[in-house]
Amino acid sequence: MPSLVLRAPVAGRHARVLLPGDKSISHRALLLAAIASGTTRIVGCNSGEDVRATVRALRLLGASVRTMSDGYEVHGVPRLHDPRTTIDCGNSGTTMRMLAGLLAGRVDAVLDGDTSLRTRPMARVTQPLGAMGARITTNAGRPPLFVRRRPQALRGLHYRIPVPSAQVKSALLIAALRAAGPSTIVEAVQTRDHTEIMLKAMGARLRRQGRTLRVMPSSLRALGRMRVPGDLSSAVYLLCAAATLPGSALTVRRVGLNPTRTHALQVMRQMGVELRIARRSHDNGEPAADLTVLGGRPLRNVTIATHLVAGLIDEIPALCALAATARGRFTVRGASELRVKESDRIAATVELLRRFAADARALEDGIVVHGGIPLRAPREAWTHGDHRIGLAAAILAAATRSRITIRDSACIATSLPGFSGFWRSAF
Ligand code: S3P
Repeated sequence: MPSLVLRAPVAGRHARVLLPGDKSISHRALLLAAIASGTTRIVGCNSGEDVRATVRALRLLGASVRTMSDGYEVHGVPRLHDPRTTIDCGNSGTTMRMLAGLLAGRVDAVLDGDTSLRTRPMARVTQPLGAMGARITTNAGRPPLFVRRRPQALRGLHYRIPVPSAQVKSALLIAALRAAGPSTIVEAVQTRDHTEIMLKAMGARLRRQGRTLRVMPSSLRALGRMRVPGDLSSAVYLLCAAATLPGSALTVRRVGLNPTRTHALQVMRQMGVELRIARRSHDNGEPAADLTVLGGRPLRNVTIATHLVAGLIDEIPALCALAATARGRFTVRGASELRVKESDRIAATVELLRRFAADARALEDGIVVHGGIPLRAPREAWTHGDHRIGLAAAILAAATRSRITIRDSACIATSLPGFSGFWRSAF
């Protein structure tokens, strides 16, 4: 099991880093380019293990995905082939759930994944796809997924998604493009809208009214060139680490700032983090900017409003690590989705914080941290096979200025390949 040794961070450094492209946008760009007419050059695509699983899957399905020095070039195909072998989605729930929507009714395929992915709930996507007429069987609601081709088109779907999930929404939107009639998909809470932005730009007939999305059967045209902004979720982990180091200034360049994703920045500011936003830009409907944190400001804890949770779900371990260094009580609730991420992130985050002697408590649907008590770094911490937990361990190592060994660290490369290099240049 690989380990990563991070040397003790040095406070007072000023650094600028450019992180890999946003993972969510990268998956979508590849999947939609593969079924669009024409060629798409995807610049700045995330090159982590999760996105590579999507690339491998598309190649097995007959799409042409060429690796370029700065991303990928995808030639869309009108018909996907039956893959010769099982599609291995690795650790990537996004790959599996979005592929389920893309492949439903079209091909005969088996989608499988690693031991973590095999425990994750899939009925949330296979059940509504079944209501459209797709035949997808599972292992009691978990992977592998057995997808069967259907001679007739899928039916339009009218569905209210019961869990806040952009993956489920995206899978259904993609399947709805090929349905025989219109579909309406309602989300209880607004989740990240990268799929909608991209689909509209590619010519899909799609409208949003409040929480309701109406989709007409549509074909997609390739965008020619797309630039993927830097990954905000990864950036938040590095920026939280910088926030704990007096005198440090860290700028993360050209980070995606889609408003459905920026709630963690709002919370960091409420906690007293000095965060500056500069050089705003736009790439294919997705806003981006340079983010700078000036470290060492006094921090106070907050209660996160439950309506913000879907918009910061991937950053909760980072915010909890930061909360351990701040005065007062930090509470996040309404986050039971954390129980079914790459690990049980409520249990794993609490275990990690306690290893650093923080006062953290798990709730059924959230976490409470009493911050401001002296932290003590352990020699080593475990990721539980979850990239976000590994990165949260790095924040706590920064807060305690400690060298740390992160065990079972390979998972960090699922979202942030090259993490140790970014860490060395930042701290
Ligand atoms: C993602 C959606 C979220 C998020 C995941 C990426 C996406 O998952 O946690 O890291 O790209 O759509 P859910 O759809 O399960 O909420």
